Amino acid sequence: MDKLIIEGGVPLQGSIRVSGAKNAALPILMACLLAEGPVSLTNVPRLADIRTSLKLLNILGCETAFEGNDATSVCTGLKSEAPYDLVKTMRASVLCLGPLLARLGEAQVALPGGCAIGARPVDLHLRGMEKMGAKFELTGGYIRGVCPGGLKGAKITLDFPTVGGTENLLMAASLAQGATTLENAAREPEVVDLANFLNAMGAKITGQGTSVITVEGVSTLKGCAYRVMPDRIEAGTYMIAAAITGGELEIVDCPFADLDAVSYKLREMGVWLQEMDDFVLVRRSDGPLRNVDVTTLPHPGFPTDMQAQIMALMCFGKGAGTIEEKIFENRFMHVLELVRLGADVRLKGRTAMVQGVGKLIGAPVMASDLRASASLVLAGLAAEGTTTIERIYHLDRGYENIEAKLSGVGARIKRVPA
Ligand code: UD1
Repeated sequence: MDKLIIEGGVPLQGSIRVSGAKNAALPILMACLLAEGPVSLTNVPRLADIRTSLKLLNILGCETAFEGNDATSVCTGLKSEAPYDLVKTMRASVLCLGPLLARLGEAQVALPGGCAIGARPVDLHLRGMEKMGAKFELTGGYIRGVCPGGLKGAKITLDFPTVGGTENLLMAASLAQGATTLENAAREPEVVDLANFLNAMGAKITGQGTSVITVEGVSTLKGCAYRVMPDRIEAGTYMIAAAITGGELEIVDCPFADLDAVSYKLREMGVWLQEMDDFVLVRRSDGPLRNVDVTTLPHPGFPTDMQAQIMALMCFGKGAGTIEEKIFENRFMHVLELVRLGADVRLKGRTAMVQGVGKLIGAPVMASDLRASASLVLAGLAAEGTTTIERIYHLDRGYENIEAKLSGVGARIKRVPA
């Protein structure tokens, strides 16, 4: 397995372009199953999860192509089974359930297993589709769904504003008979991007970005051309890369408006951020970083996908701060690895107490999930000496060309093949 070797201590300087959003591209690719004509997408990030999604589309009966950052898909003969071999490698595969039920009236999708950051059930996805008339059985490790008379619009109130659940239900409702109202829907920008894509295919969705979304079902959806939004989590990660190394970065194609909660906390810590015409300029303000208290919440709250990265930054802040994780019950796998670099972080239930230590010292560490890997890269960039990060396949699921982008702004980082 490849590893990353980072010689820390270089203040990053220059310009980094943000890639297309993984978490928008994944549901959008699954929504291609709904289209009766060809779909062509631009700004699709070249990531392992995207390749897995394209493979899944192939298995489900779509012809796909992926060149540069452009992907195309056309459905030629849909099939209803998403096999375990693929679903187990990527939880987001469960997003094919809504489209398959809507188009075929049946679907068999392997039940995604647990993963490193918590149990992550899909009960809310299923409950919502049941309200629309689907019936499910869980047998042989598969979710087997049917709705012989087709899906019918319904009023659905989610217990929790689940991102994937909202996306699955939006896709199912787009081709259902009648109107669906989704209450307590997720407000994440990626949900908005999916809804805008569905509308470009002919869906009638309003209210995306608020917690009440209305979908007027239509009988068919057509192909379209669509550009995937830029990745706010990648952008936020590079903002922290500038701050943690004491450098200055221009973040190009930065969806700054979607990063309010992150920029609020970074400014509170003493990071200087300025939105310019084409980029966001980031550097550490004069004076030390100050530690703050962070609570992860559904959007527009502080994103759980930035929690591990801000923890790395807080290791360099003055004083104590806390990070409370309210979305996933077990998302602190990076803590022990940061401690290996000299961090002072203590866990109490879902709260991490971070005492700034001023410096970290390079060491071998192990990545455990995608955002944990990002936090170790950030810590390694700022640590004294050499940090070696193993199991970086996690990183390749979510960050396009990370070593190239970081070495382009001065980082001493290299990938060593196994
Ligand atoms: C998506 C993102 C992930 C991000 C997360 C929260 C993608 C591909 N992934 O994941 O990067 O960290 O949103 O912003 O977009 N839950 C249930 N029942 C359900 C569904 C969810 O209990 O049916 C719980 C989960 O266990 C978790 C919480 O709700 O504790 C949030 O999950 P959800 O919003 O669904 O996240 P994902 O869509 O899996």
